[in-house]
Amino acid sequence: MKSWSPYKNHRLFTGTVFGVFVGLTVLIAVQPAAQIQANNAPLPTAVALTAEQQAGLRVFIGEGCVACHTQQVRNIDMDKTWGGRPGIPADYAWRKRLDVWRATPSTLGSERTGPDLTEVGERQPSDLWHLLHLYQPRSVVKESIMPAFPWLFEDSVAGTPAGLALNIPAAWRERGNRATIVPTRKAQHLVAYLLSLKQAELPTGEEPAFLAFSTPGNALGAAAGAAPMAAPGAAVLPDGAALYTTHCQACHQANGEGLKGAFPPLKGSSVVNDKDATLMVNIILEGYNARPEYGVMPGFAAKLTDAEIAAIVSHERSSWGNTAAPVTADFVKQLRALVKPVAAL
Ligand code: HEC
Ligand code: HEC
Repeated sequence: MKSWSPYKNHRLFTGTVFGVFVGLTVLIAVQPAAQIQANNAPLPTAVALTAEQQAGLRVFIGEGCVACHTQQVRNIDMDKTWGGRPGIPADYAWRKRLDVWRATPSTLGSERTGPDLTEVGERQPSDLWHLLHLYQPRSVVKESIMPAFPWLFEDSVAGTPAGLALNIPAAWRERGNRATIVPTRKAQHLVAYLLSLKQAELPTGEEPAFLAFSTPGNALGAAAGAAPMAAPGAAVLPDGAALYTTHCQACHQANGEGLKGAFPPLKGSSVVNDKDATLMVNIILEGYNARPEYGVMPGFAAKLTDAEIAAIVSHERSSWGNTAAPVTADFVKQLRALVKPVAAL
């Protein structure tokens, strides 16, 4: 007779343990990894590393630079010095495996003995400075406690291009070396990598050409007032599509699909299609930073009127296949009354 006791039925015992193992692996490792993989694309303005820069990244990892340097701008005041904006997942989307044997390196870092390097290519664009600094940090920054990396340099041999020779002050030469010192390939790659470190611009930087049409009080106001299709008596809303183009499209894109790892899609969004538009309107009024897989959305309470927000919301709820009912300016007005006044309006 078959026993159901795990102490007696070894097949049952092994099968259960194996099943639980596979189940947990899928749940806590495979599924989250697949989700991140699917929601991951570089910003349109981001450029992938060249072969040389990628080789430099290998040196960066190999020399352990990551032990003292982070590459993450956090969303807090003290990090403002390190970048123009907080980092978002899309910033890391171009990262590739080092080689077949080594996984994609994590350069985020956890310790800032030295400065964050997210934008060091912007802050310190001189390759010569970087070379001197790597050969001997104290030759350019007197109080530096960064270790020197002299093994990334060599004495000049016949055939090295003269332009590469480093003008190192005698006091800092290794063991009184009098030879001409030149960077190795590794050092050149490393510096190419350091110079490539810049934050990609968010697409918000670009101003749509027809901005002038949607500022309240000029062309748009006039156009809306003259809208011939409005039902008599109904409050006429401004053109939601034009307002969307001006204020939301840079992030959420013309097709409403957003950008992976940066801005969520509004097409098919449960928030946008919710029968109750309260959350949606609040997000637009106050901004939103709820999910780590996306960047920060700014609030528009100070920039848009109730009617404009109602127009945009109604536009989004009826575009790209979304099919939720429109909202009125009064609805927005009621919600705005509940929002804490934004400082310095
Ligand atoms: C033991 C910690 C430590 C290690 C390891 C280290 N650094 Fe540094 N680094 C520092 C400190 C401290 C500073 C600030 C003083 C200075 O500029 O030298 C610094 C500064 C820098 C700067 C200038 C940043 C700026 O904003 O001006 C660069 C670039 C840099 N390091 C690159 C590297 C590279 C590349 C490596 C690996 C080859 C490396 N560091 C390894 C501690 C370290
Ligand atoms: C600077 C980029 C940016 C701009 C401009 C922007 N958003 Fe967003 N929006 C975001 C980000 C990022 C999120 C997700 C934030 C989070 O989840 O943490 C978001 C989330 C949303 C959501 C919630 C979607 C969901 O599925 O959860 C709505 C609705 C929304 N935005 C509407 C708008 C509207 C309307 C505008 C224009 C008035 C606008 N956004 C402008 C970046 C932006």
